[in-house]
Amino acid sequence: MKRTDLLKRTADLAIEFLDGLPERRVGPVIPIDELRASLGGPLPKRGEDPREVIEHLVRAADPGLVAMAGPRYFGFVIGGHVPASLAADWLTSAWDQNATLYVSSPANSVVEEVAAGWLLEVLDLPRTASVGFTTGCMMANFTGLAAGRHAVLARLGWDVEARGLYGAPEIDVVIGDEAHATILAALQMLGLGRERVKRVSTDRQGRMELESLREILAGCRGPLIVCAQAGNVNTGSFDPLEEIGAQVRERGGWLHVDGAFGLWAAASPGLAPLVRGAGTADSWATDGHKWLNVPYDSGIVIVNDPESHRAAMTIAAAYLVQTGGRERDPFDYVPEFSRRARGFTVYAALRSLGREGIRDLVERCCALAKRFEERLRGEPGVEVLNDVVLNQVLVRFTPPGGGDADAFTREVVGRVQADGTCWLSGTTWHGMAAMRISVSNWSTTEADVDLSATAILRALTPWPPLPAPPFPPSPREGERGTVLPSL
Ligand SMILES: Cc1ncc(COP(=O)(O)O)c(C=O)c1O
Repeated sequence: MKRTDLLKRTADLAIEFLDGLPERRVGPVIPIDELRASLGGPLPKRGEDPREVIEHLVRAADPGLVAMAGPRYFGFVIGGHVPASLAADWLTSAWDQNATLYVSSPANSVVEEVAAGWLLEVLDLPRTASVGFTTGCMMANFTGLAAGRHAVLARLGWDVEARGLYGAPEIDVVIGDEAHATILAALQMLGLGRERVKRVSTDRQGRMELESLREILAGCRGPLIVCAQAGNVNTGSFDPLEEIGAQVRERGGWLHVDGAFGLWAAASPGLAPLVRGAGTADSWATDGHKWLNVPYDSGIVIVNDPESHRAAMTIAAAYLVQTGGRERDPFDYVPEFSRRARGFTVYAALRSLGREGIRDLVERCCALAKRFEERLRGEPGVEVLNDVVLNQVLVRFTPPGGGDADAFTREVVGRVQADGTCWLSGTTWHGMAAMRISVSNWSTTEADVDLSATAILRALTPWPPLPAPPFPPSPREGERGTVLPSL
């Protein structure tokens, strides 16, 4: 089959999948053994026809796919993909640019430069900060903390990139009790240790308590890195960034903010107070693949000290054709060498949404989270555990007639997943089992929330639940979402 025909056929198959997303059962429908059987087998001795390969892949993978890009996926914190960004992702593969150096792809380098400027504007962060495009927020956390590690040790004359941490002044690392697991993973990879951190206590919503921070900082003697959070993965709550920033500055420390999704509150004037003071930090980590609705993978690191950022990441080798600094060498800002040209998808998402579209997307997801809260709160046996300040809702269920609420909550989560109307996951919040609902997809409508809330409430009745009603008819073009009315 000719390449053109193969790619057109593949585009048709992808579009068929996308068009089916709103009606599709959200969870997978096939057990692992069947998936292994249909996808596995010996590596063929002779290559197969590409069309057959693709058609087999689509047929065999389909029952194991999750409708994660669809409007009723509320698990973890997972965005979909706005159309321009998905289209740019297809082009990224077709162009196959290695986003290492300026010389390896001037177009990618300039697109990253432009997208970086737009991101700083939307997130209202210092316009002189440097930006790197990572795989996700975990590697953005890693990069921001690596820049911080460099800066606090360089101030004491220690070159950590050259000498490592052997014999280095000991860094005090302070995190909130509710820091995301990927902060700990980043610290572990940076040799700063997962367990030797000092932990600040947090309140009922998961926010750092300032008095606890003050006490801990008073006991810190060495170079200092503090990790704060904008958007708790369970409750959506924000650490008091302004006050934390003041305390860290007083101690001459480095403040890193993990804002995987929460930093996007800055795009909405009504929500921006939640991130007040964020701009005074030294580094920030966020994602494109969560709230900006860029396809995987897309993380973003921002550092208000470009020299430390570069020093922590850059690589030198005789054969590399590095610029003298006038043009952007993308590998100066990420912990990778050869990599996908991730700037194109971010650029396309930002450009197709515009400032108003991003604000609308963020505000609409928050309004839909509130709608979930309204549909669920007050129903018998349902308790909303968090203040719904952003796009996250935490719910707990008590069995009719009383009993083990933890076991029942887990059972309800399992029943909702099995029902297929929507998909969401469970968590443990302050010792209690809970259901997490995260509204992060550009295409989710009020009808999707209502249908999903009904499915959740239906799951409170004994298993097996009633069959799911038909999903809403597929919207005609232009009806789903208000973000991109022309699509
Ligand atoms: C607060 C926070 N930080 C970091 C991450 C990790 O992000 P990623 O999965 O993009 O690496 C998440 C993911 O949900 C998160 O919520």
